[in-house]
Amino acid sequence: MTVHGVLARYADRLPVGPTTPRITLGEGSTPCVEAHHIGAQLGLASLHLKLEGLNPTGSFKDRGMVVAVAKALEAGSTTIVCASTGNTSASAAAFAARFGLRCVVVVPGGGVASGKLLQAQVHGALVLAIPGGFDAALRAVRELCDEQPFTLVNSVNPHRIEGQKTAAFEIIEELGDAPDVLAIPVGNAGNITAYWRGFREYHRDGLSSRLPRMVGGQAAGAAPLVVGHAVRDPETVASAIRIGDPASRQGAIDARDQSEGLIDAVTDAEILDAQHRLATQEGVFCEPASAASLAVLEKSVRSGAVAPGQRAVCVLTGSGLKDPDTVSRALQPPREVPADAAALARAILAA
Ligand code: F0G
Repeated sequence: MTVHGVLARYADRLPVGPTTPRITLGEGSTPCVEAHHIGAQLGLASLHLKLEGLNPTGSFKDRGMVVAVAKALEAGSTTIVCASTGNTSASAAAFAARFGLRCVVVVPGGGVASGKLLQAQVHGALVLAIPGGFDAALRAVRELCDEQPFTLVNSVNPHRIEGQKTAAFEIIEELGDAPDVLAIPVGNAGNITAYWRGFREYHRDGLSSRLPRMVGGQAAGAAPLVVGHAVRDPETVASAIRIGDPASRQGAIDARDQSEGLIDAVTDAEILDAQHRLATQEGVFCEPASAASLAVLEKSVRSGAVAPGQRAVCVLTGSGLKDPDTVSRALQPPREVPADAAALARAILAA
């Protein structure tokens, strides 16, 4: 029988016990597909894409959310709360709907991609928009959850990081070993912290022979880990990682330094170009923030920080369908033609 979900698959490596409900929405077990065209262009021995947009709510957040929600249920909590640039709120709202919890999400007003906002609303969450960005929203909900009997399900909740580390396990299982390089977008910095934990855990237990270098990508206008201090008004087209003061800052720095990796900034133009090439050359439509992983890998290969001939994996954290507005600005509406073969043929020949 197929085993569904992160809790069933990795119970022995997660903080779950006999009283933890083994819930699932079918998260995890996402494909890791080879990107032949871009990999060859970069001179890499191989490039794989971890398609986290194929999780049930369209992003990697479901891996950590299932653990955080299971633990909230186990503790008897009735309300979960998060601040979010969109994906965490979509995931929290879906799990809350399915498992009978109330969900409150606090988002930066006007700062969330339309598909993500829609998800939170469709799943019945109470969506509250604040003035200011993600950092202000996170500060507010942390304070709220200190005072009220609500469970905070942002990645400052340690169960989130535990669940998210399972993606590193899957990469090792699918490729037979850890890659040389793991490229990943960095916003609030929970995910890079989680992957590094997962890679170290399997390496410690003899399930992989090497540790990857962790290569993190931040958007140039929201790159606190690159400039070395918090950024007051972060700005980038990649709204998921529009974060100026990452909660898991130290985890990201440890991942970078212990793995002899790097965290670098990539421009919005580089992010959108990487997103476009993933779509047109590899058939993968990810959201802008996700493409920061490829953008930073490309920049690192160009600068020599990553040598050719390496085996690399890019984590594509979320589905492109969540943020149609950003890409559609660069697209033309479909050309209208009469419904007859001759007109179609003329239009095709003229294209
Ligand atoms: N990619 C996507 C698609 C994201 O939604 C996020 C974070 C990241 C990358 C960065 O991951 O924060 O662990 O470094 N989204 C959060 C949210 C902040 O609220 O959905 P991180």
